[in-house]
Parts: sequence; structure tokens; C-alpha cells
Amino acid sequence: MEQTLVIVKPDAVARGLIGEVIRRFEAEGLVVCGLKMVWLAQKEAEGFYQVHRHRPFFESLTHFMASGPCVMMVLEGEKAIGCVRTLMGATDPAEADEGTLRRSFATSIEKNVVHGSDSAASAAFEIPYFFNRLEIIPVAERGETSLA
Ligand code: CMP
Repeated sequence: MEQTLVIVKPDAVARGLIGEVIRRFEAEGLVVCGLKMVWLAQKEAEGFYQVHRHRPFFESLTHFMASGPCVMMVLEGEKAIGCVRTLMGATDPAEADEGTLRRSFATSIEKNVVHGSDSAASAAFEIPYFFNRLEIIPVAERGETSLA
């Protein structure tokens, strides 16, 4: 089992797409094991995207991410990291496959609806950036209520 961090970005939250994003992930068998809404401060957005700090789009990206509330999720499943990335589609919606979240809903390469960890190393940084241990409830710890 793998865990990955997903962010429903401010553009998608503002457009009422939280439910549709979660629905698409759950429909593929991914399990929500952590969930919260957060309005990031500029510094928090900068810390999260620190790997991109030298990129020309860094300032614009972090302003966008701090422009309104996001929904943060930890999703769990077999090969969850790759599965989420397939369902999201390419970063640039013009290059995203038909049927992906970004192809369906993104309006630009920046306002691209959703973020997902791009590797196990990224997930290991990104999940604890937003969630503490008590806020993550893995499938294996759910006992009788587990669907798995
Ligand atoms: P995300 O998957 O969250 O990872 C980094 C984000 O930076 C990306 O989605 C986009 O929102 C944004 N991004 C990546 N490349 C560009 C670009 N060339 N111009 C503007 N924003 C970008």
C-alpha cells in the first residue's frame, strides 16, 4: 500500500469541484485516509513548493496557492502515487489525456485544479507538511469498518 498527497487547488475549490475530484479518485479504488481544508499563508505555499523556488513561475504559483482555500488529502491504495498522476493528467492541460482531471477542468498550466506527489520521496515530504499522525487513518487501522 502506498500513500500520496493530493491538493484540490484554489481554482477547483472556488469552482465547486471538490466533490468531483474526490469522486474520480474514489471511483478508481483510492481511499481517502486524511482530509482537511487549509488556506495557506504565502510562506507556507513557498515552503511546500520549495523544489521550484528557482523556477520563473515560483512567485506566481505560490501567490495562486495562497489565493484561497485548498483541500488537502492523503489518498491510499496500491501504486497510489502513479494512479493519482494518471488520473490528474499532464501538468499542462493542453497536453493532458482525454478524461483526466486537468483535461476536463484546468484553465492553464498554473490553475490546473489538482496537485499529486510525483514520487515516494515527494510524498514523504508532502504528507507530513500538512498532516500529523492522528490526522491520517490508514485502511489497515480501520478494523470492521474497512471496505478493503
Ligand atoms: P503541481 O503539480 O502542483 O506542481 C508544480 C506546479 O507549478 C504545477 O502543478 C503548476 O501549477 C505550476 N507550474 C508548473 N509549470 C508551470 C509553468 N511553466 N508555468 C506556470 N506554472 C507552472
